[in-house]
Amino acid sequence: MNTFVQYNPTKLHFGKGQIEKLPLELGEDGLKVLVVYGGGSIKRNGVYEDVINQLERANATVFELSGVEPNPRLTTVRRGVEICRTEGIDFLLAVGGGSVIDCTKAIAAGSAYEGDVWDLIIRKAPIEAALPFGTVLTLAATGSEMNSVSVITNWETKEKLGWGSPLVFPKFSILDPTYTFTVPKNQTVYGIVDSMSHALEHYFHRTENTPMIDGFIESLLRTAITTAPKLLRDLESFEHRETMMYISTTAFNGTLSNGTDGGDWATHRIEHAISAVYDIPHGGGLAILFPNWLEHVIEEDPSRVKQLAVNVFGITTDGKTDVEVATEGARALRDFWNSLDAPSRLADYEIDDSDFDAIIEKTFVKPGVGTYKELDEESVRDILNRSL
Ligand code: NZQ
Ligand code: ZN
Repeated sequence: MNTFVQYNPTKLHFGKGQIEKLPLELGEDGLKVLVVYGGGSIKRNGVYEDVINQLERANATVFELSGVEPNPRLTTVRRGVEICRTEGIDFLLAVGGGSVIDCTKAIAAGSAYEGDVWDLIIRKAPIEAALPFGTVLTLAATGSEMNSVSVITNWETKEKLGWGSPLVFPKFSILDPTYTFTVPKNQTVYGIVDSMSHALEHYFHRTENTPMIDGFIESLLRTAITTAPKLLRDLESFEHRETMMYISTTAFNGTLSNGTDGGDWATHRIEHAISAVYDIPHGGGLAILFPNWLEHVIEEDPSRVKQLAVNVFGITTDGKTDVEVATEGARALRDFWNSLDAPSRLADYEIDDSDFDAIIEKTFVKPGVGTYKELDEESVRDILNRSL
């Protein structure tokens, strides 16, 4: 194992009815709270009402920023920063999925910075302060509710960039699985794929002697594989919603990189580049790419894909080469996601190879793509071609 620091200050309130903890977590009465949310799902499913009721108990003065887009845009972040500045907001409350939470993180940092928030995202200026914020999660997918990462799209320049800072961990997150009952089937699938991809990308590290974390990731993946089909048959199953919610939070809250080199996030880099150009759902892009990344990797080094194949998908090894076992593992992952009706080809989003040059350029916007296998431009093109 590598030396490591485990730091995660986000306090979780997990379970049904935990919204009642909101007044306590705000810390004091009478705050000016900016509630940030998306296109209106929280108004249709009653979450908005629950939140407002609790804010009233805390005598908060409520301001609102609605309409945060899936793949949240810089223009919306700027609107939020403007509200914080003019109204003197004390606290931000994100109510939604990863997009709303990521947007809130950017507003939190942007409000505490004199210049334009994009400077912070492109690392032109350091993040030195941020407004405090909490989250009420309504979609199990990204892990943003318990990490310090945010992904923002600048639609003018067609850039989708991840950034982060220890200053943008949520103070608390309220995770009530019943709030995810109304997530439609396709978004539920994207969430499952995203969570599994986070676990998988952590798994592809090159650190020696990591049996505990490897076993933890394998267990998380096996649990996702047994839970997902049951959940998709019954979207209002509390049991399966709570399992998936805990999986998605754990898959990207720092735990899975303890003692390792952090894993290989090349697929996420390529996916962000694709959705910067085409605005497709993040989980949908990952479902297309990840099995093709696996096949690309097998050609050079099948060992870890083989381990995944055996320990997660139960592939037998008798009389087979490592490449054969690993290839069966990659196919098992593809077949599993296909069985959930996840997208499997770029053509599912009517994407052909005409923008591959732009996607490749955006993938390399920061140098160094991939650690388990460092990718060059031709490798990324190969993965994209396999994904057509
Ligand atoms: O906008 P509303 O009306 O709320 O509808 C949303 C949205 O259309 C809907 N939804 C959310 N909760 C719902 C619901 N519909 C019904 N019932 C509910 N309870 O779902 C749609 C998608 O929401 P979104 O927040 O975009 O999805 P997700 O949580 O998958 O977030 C995706 C974004 O997070 C980024 C992605 O790149 C993408 O921009 N990521 C953030 C990460 C992080 N911060 O750690 C890591 C990830 O790898 C990812 O890159
Ligand atoms: Zn992701």
